[in-house]
Amino acid sequence: MREKDRPDTRMWATGDSGHAGTGATKKDDMPDAVAIRHVTKTFERRERALTGEGVLRGLLHPRKSVLTALDDISFTVAPGEFVAYAGPNGAGKSTTMKLLCGMLMPGAGELSVLGLSPRRNRVRLMRRMGVLFGNRTELWWDHPVLQSFEWKRVVWDIPDAVYRENLAMVTELLDLSGLLHTFARELSLGQRMRADLAMLLLHSPELVLLDEPTLGLDVVAKRQMIGFLKTLNREKGVTILVTSHDMDDLEEMAERVLMISEGKIVYDGDFNGLRQVSGSLSRISLTMENGQPPTIEGARLLSARRGVYEFEVDLDRVPVQELLRRVSLIEEVRDVELRKAPIEEVIAGLYAEWKNAGRH
Ligand SMILES: Nc1ncnc2c1ncn2[C@@H]1O[C@H](COP(=O)(O)OP(=O)(O)O)[C@@H](O)[C@H]1O
Ligand SMILES: [Mg+2]
Repeated sequence: MREKDRPDTRMWATGDSGHAGTGATKKDDMPDAVAIRHVTKTFERRERALTGEGVLRGLLHPRKSVLTALDDISFTVAPGEFVAYAGPNGAGKSTTMKLLCGMLMPGAGELSVLGLSPRRNRVRLMRRMGVLFGNRTELWWDHPVLQSFEWKRVVWDIPDAVYRENLAMVTELLDLSGLLHTFARELSLGQRMRADLAMLLLHSPELVLLDEPTLGLDVVAKRQMIGFLKTLNREKGVTILVTSHDMDDLEEMAERVLMISEGKIVYDGDFNGLRQVSGSLSRISLTMENGQPPTIEGARLLSARRGVYEFEVDLDRVPVQELLRRVSLIEEVRDVELRKAPIEEVIAGLYAEWKNAGRH
């Protein structure tokens, strides 16, 4: 509608909040929202022997070991993109997020966020970005939600018009009207996450970093959060980088996925491409007339429940036509269902492959 077709105009409430002018240049001239080049981050760990005869020696002389959390990673995120940052627990997602908001320093390599160094320009950057670590809250525990918002308005010196407009927007889209006067400590996890998300948007950030925002949410709360983030990206043009170890959540939100495994970026592309690299794993379920387990050549039995047998099959190895031909030879089949494997399993298979490849 109104300004939708003008890519160089941000659609946040602007008032005169200082950074509103950034939309004056064309997107092509804008720096990457995030640029990470050859970044490495290590942590030193002290290990103490706690069993056996080494206990005393271990306590007195703890051994040091170095853990490489990020191993030469590089990627960029363009303004306006919505990027999923996926990987199993311990892969290095949160470490990356902490580097991007200046909480940690890289051991080597270069980082820039909205064209600035997160470490040197932390305060300036924080005025232009919003950060959420799903396992922490910025809300005042013993106060109503609205009080935390008001506090942010004052401390951040958010112009009244901007604050009012943003508050109305997040209250509506995140369904917060019933929660504004509730004490933060009385909120459910899903409500708390929505309130935290709302708070980080009050100053119209251009870039939002979300670390595990869907962790622990029930299905309804997840849907609500995912829908909201998509709207935020599409209608307000906010750049979003979101982490999760749950691929299904990420696939619903973003088009592009960056995957990290053991501190290395192992994939950067779309979700379909991810399925392709992993072969064409599919599922076929057969409902049997006589309840007897069938066998299909080239398919692996995964489960059997009340006469329904589910198989895994790689359609790159056994093409669909051939698979169906084989099934048609089994007389007692009453019903057949073929579908894609859940993305979670595709990934689990990939991680295993990458790990093995790394060892050879
Ligand atoms: N402050 C720290 N001190 C020591 N090790 C850490 C620290 N922070 C993270 N790590 C380690 O770095 C690795 C990556 O952690 P993290 O980035 O939190 O992973 P993710 O968020 O993907 O689950 C893990 O092995 C973790 O134990
Ligand atoms: Mg994490």
